[in-house]
Amino acid sequence: MSETIQTLLQESRSFPPSADFVAQANQSDPGVYQQANADYLAFWEGWARQLDWIEPWHTVLDWSGAPFAKWFVGGKLNACHNCLDRHVANGLGGKRAIVWEGEPGDERTLTYAQLLEEVARLANALKALGVGKGDRVCVYLPMVPELAMTMLACARIGATHSVVFGGFSAESLYDRINDAGAKAVVTADGGWRRGGIVPLKKAVDDALAMGCPTVEKVLVLNRTGDAGTVTNGIATPAYDRGGWVDGRDVRWEDLVPNQSADCPCEPMDSEDLLYILYTSGSTGKPKGIVHTTGGYLTGVYATAQWVFDYKPDDVFWCTADCGWVTGHSYVVYGPLANATTVVMYEGAPDTPDKDRFWRLIEKHRITILYTAPTAIRAFMKWGTEYPDRCDLSSLRLLGSVGEPINPEAWMWYQEHIGRFRCPIVDTWWQTETGAIMISPLPGITHTKPGSATRAFPGIRATIFNDQGEDVSTEHMERVDRGEATHAVGGYLVITQPWPSMLRGIYGDPERFRQVYWSRFPGTYFTGDGAKLDEDGCFWLLGRVDDIMLVAGHNISTMEVESALVDHPAVAEAAVIGKQHELKGQAIAAFVIVRAGFVASEALVKELKDHVAKKIGPIARPDDVIITAELPKTRSGKIMRRLLRDVAEGRALGDTTTLADAAVVGALKDKYEHTEG
Ligand code: WT7
Repeated sequence: MSETIQTLLQESRSFPPSADFVAQANQSDPGVYQQANADYLAFWEGWARQLDWIEPWHTVLDWSGAPFAKWFVGGKLNACHNCLDRHVANGLGGKRAIVWEGEPGDERTLTYAQLLEEVARLANALKALGVGKGDRVCVYLPMVPELAMTMLACARIGATHSVVFGGFSAESLYDRINDAGAKAVVTADGGWRRGGIVPLKKAVDDALAMGCPTVEKVLVLNRTGDAGTVTNGIATPAYDRGGWVDGRDVRWEDLVPNQSADCPCEPMDSEDLLYILYTSGSTGKPKGIVHTTGGYLTGVYATAQWVFDYKPDDVFWCTADCGWVTGHSYVVYGPLANATTVVMYEGAPDTPDKDRFWRLIEKHRITILYTAPTAIRAFMKWGTEYPDRCDLSSLRLLGSVGEPINPEAWMWYQEHIGRFRCPIVDTWWQTETGAIMISPLPGITHTKPGSATRAFPGIRATIFNDQGEDVSTEHMERVDRGEATHAVGGYLVITQPWPSMLRGIYGDPERFRQVYWSRFPGTYFTGDGAKLDEDGCFWLLGRVDDIMLVAGHNISTMEVESALVDHPAVAEAAVIGKQHELKGQAIAAFVIVRAGFVASEALVKELKDHVAKKIGPIARPDDVIITAELPKTRSGKIMRRLLRDVAEGRALGDTTTLADAAVVGALKDKYEHTEG
């Protein structure tokens, strides 16, 4: 990694926070880093004290069973209480908790008091279905308020939720239900996406038909109504057609509204499970990432408050689905623990038109937007006319998450969405970390396009080389003396425990040790490559399995992608290393061009030259394939493995997590054509 080309991302722009922002920020004291790191246990304990505990902890951290951490040992609390009851008791019952918009344009607003009432009824309904403390509940719902309610209702009664993203297939659902041993499934007839209905109940039926012996009950919400049929004046919603199993399947409207709105919160041990969330490994079956109660809630509460700078009047929109960790931590638990108003949106960003996000911001006067680089690049491709015609003046802060944001997209976000008024927080974290780990604090940090900047106070992120030596300590000393002249690179690791860290992989302690703790014994291995620049800022380089080795040089796929999208003709780029007799790996780039540019031999040459000029001749791609789409997982990550298969002419592997499997076939044809 030390050979990583030093010209990487020659990005020197830096944006200090405005004086106005600093003056009102929740945290504006640069000394906070040193204070927190001088005694990180005291720092986190201070945050935990801001939550309501039924019983106090006796020990902040027990790391004697490493890598299995215990935080706030002996403490008891309830996550739902901390997100709802606590605020209602403090006089915030009338404040909006959730502002929701369905894709067809239907709207619903729930105050904290209303949300509490609905959650309590639902919690009693789950109990009536036989769900109790310690049981696992699989949640397979569209982005409707009932999704957040179900998570909170589970937390209220001490059941562990396992949310499965509605875009996953019946087969994925089957795997996840069985791995968790779920007792109940909560689903809906369907959800709206691009004007069509995603048939969720059908997928549940198919999954259960494959054999899910632990599932006793399926609670079914009528979301789409789906017209259905009317016989003798009695309407039968479409979700009753076929597949309905009496005794197993229960209609939401038959059960939930009749329940009492009084449901006490179950006192949970700080280390009791809050949820399991599946994340795909690069190989093998998905990993059930386990999060517990006290530490997780502390982590999301603290990071949300400082990174997003919540104020009582903020309207916060995290565009992630609750099927991903981002939705768990920053649609539900983080903002609600802070009594913030959150926006939830069910559908696609281009329905009915490509300005849907901007219309939502305009209508609901959203003040903070948190979205992903892949979305930002789609907006860039669609053109500025869509945001330009909307009133975005309510925005005051922007966030990015999910993958490295290339400087080009960062600058576009700043100019066309933030209109130079809003700081941008590029937040690095993982399903496993539970909460944001590396991010600017908007009242302190001088941001740089493409850099997630610094570890959150109390978090120790460093860079190791191949031998497991910390290459950042000496570097940071040079930075402090103002003597650092170039960056250092390597593997991103976390060297001390943090409250919201995963507590393991569900049912597989050995895999947990092996995946995260064996590469560098005693240290959490993130799997990401990173560099620290002359100012001590982190630049994330993507997964280390995305690092190419071209003629002995480590080149990150991301640095080549970044160079490509820096060219005016390029909207999006995905780069992979393909096997090469001489170089080990050669670079192949798949490129989507912007509206107004035409694919041509001349353009291909120009793009190769551009990369060679930006990074160096070693990074010049052997192949540039211009394409209309790129294969992505449903969470928006480019499936490099499939591109590698295409580039190396192998048969295609498993494509079940692909958003549009046809994309790969088309790419493959194109590639073979280009080569021939
Ligand atoms: C991986 C984790 C974090 C919630 C969404 C994804 C990449 C995430 C950034 C960022 C560069 C990022 C990393 C990480 N990643 N955020 N701001 N800059 N890379 O959760 O599915 O668990 O993926 O996403 O590679 O390891 P996830």
